[in-house]
Amino acid sequence: NTTEKKRKDTTKLKLILKLEKKNFNRGLGKHTHHRAAVKMLPTFVTATPDGTEKGDFLALDLGGTNFRVLHIRVNEDEQRVMKSQNCAIPQEMMVGTGEQLFDHIAACLGEFVNSQDLKGQTLPLGFTFSFPCEQKEIDKSILIRWTKGFNCSGVEGEDVVKLLKEAIHRRGDYDIGSVAMVNDTVGTMMSCGYKDQSCEIGMIIGTGTNACYMEELKNVKRVEGMEVKEGENRRMCINTEWGGFGDDGALKDILTEYDEEVDRTSINPGIHTFEKMISGMYLGEIVRLVLVKLTQEKLLFNGETSKALLTPGTFETRFISEIEKEDKGVENTKKILADLGLTSNAVDLHIVRLICDTISSRSARLCAAALATIVNRIRVNRKLDHLKTTVGVDGAVYRKHPNFSEELQDMVRRLAPQCDINFIVSEDGSGKGAAMVTAVLCKKKFKRLNEFNCA
Ligand code: BGC
Repeated sequence: NTTEKKRKDTTKLKLILKLEKKNFNRGLGKHTHHRAAVKMLPTFVTATPDGTEKGDFLALDLGGTNFRVLHIRVNEDEQRVMKSQNCAIPQEMMVGTGEQLFDHIAACLGEFVNSQDLKGQTLPLGFTFSFPCEQKEIDKSILIRWTKGFNCSGVEGEDVVKLLKEAIHRRGDYDIGSVAMVNDTVGTMMSCGYKDQSCEIGMIIGTGTNACYMEELKNVKRVEGMEVKEGENRRMCINTEWGGFGDDGALKDILTEYDEEVDRTSINPGIHTFEKMISGMYLGEIVRLVLVKLTQEKLLFNGETSKALLTPGTFETRFISEIEKEDKGVENTKKILADLGLTSNAVDLHIVRLICDTISSRSARLCAAALATIVNRIRVNRKLDHLKTTVGVDGAVYRKHPNFSEELQDMVRRLAPQCDINFIVSEDGSGKGAAMVTAVLCKKKFKRLNEFNCA
């Protein structure tokens, strides 16, 4: 019975909400953050845009198998992408040396700067780097660890901005202005914040998953030297790195044998447990493992597996969206299974669709619980009975799945009834947002403005 199931699900998710709240506090704490599974990383972004930012900026967006270089013009009423270029990152390079990776990035950026006739302009650069970094300053950011299939040597523990600058200097044929480094969640929040000033949360559900939000600076105990006077409402954006939730065992009661298998066969076992239950890099593989098990138990495909089905990575996450489509779903399922060398009957098709629905719904609900923790936290921080807020969102899972966004939004409203949440899908968010962070820095009379070369 659906009502009973919904009630049970909500109770389970409320438990996660409680756990996550505890994790957030630990991550922000002065003495506890070193051991925290949810890192709660300070970003040094202390202001969201107010719509008056202007200028020309370069943006670099690295977070997956492609990276993008963009020339962005910000003025009163828009953030316009003047030109952009995608550069592929070959699979070998994702697990090669850091020097190779940064040389490749510097080469693509160089090609872009030259082709755009921007040479000699030393534009400030917003650098979106979508991995967990311990940020020391806006332009100093130490990579804690790689995620999402990257594992380049010599980068963990190093300042990524320095590695980028060194690679540019090795070439010596162009230069850039100051660099502002941001996570993609921060970029997404900032680009939406230009249109809607109540946007103070950024969320990504794509290859990986994560969220950031504006926290009261007085609660960010782990940052020293940023004292807040009594009654002052200063804030700093916190990159939660919620993907790490569960790395201390907090989720063991809800992990399935499929989650354990996905973790065991990943390149970073034991790391980013929550992300592995949610994001695009892993959802397809979870479905594949369920299909294999049910087939071996003779509950699917007449008990006959195929070589493709038994090969890790063959069931792509985008298949889940195709299969769950309301109109063409059955047809798509048939085709996808046939391409995987499987013979299916009508019951098989129905079961496969049910499996996809279960795995994607679980992902949407887990995200909802984590997001509810954030909105409730902002509400309590501000001592409000009711909070109205906006979340900027990006990522293929959220954008492309037929009912993921609806399911997530319904659940978050159920878990955080005192919050009225508006969701905006960000277009080109992480690149534009990095430019916005740079634009805000260039405009504000910040202490370090003299050092920030805004050309
Ligand atoms: C990274 C985050 C990033 C997220 C979404 C995760 O794997 O750790 O920094 O924001 O993916 O791209």
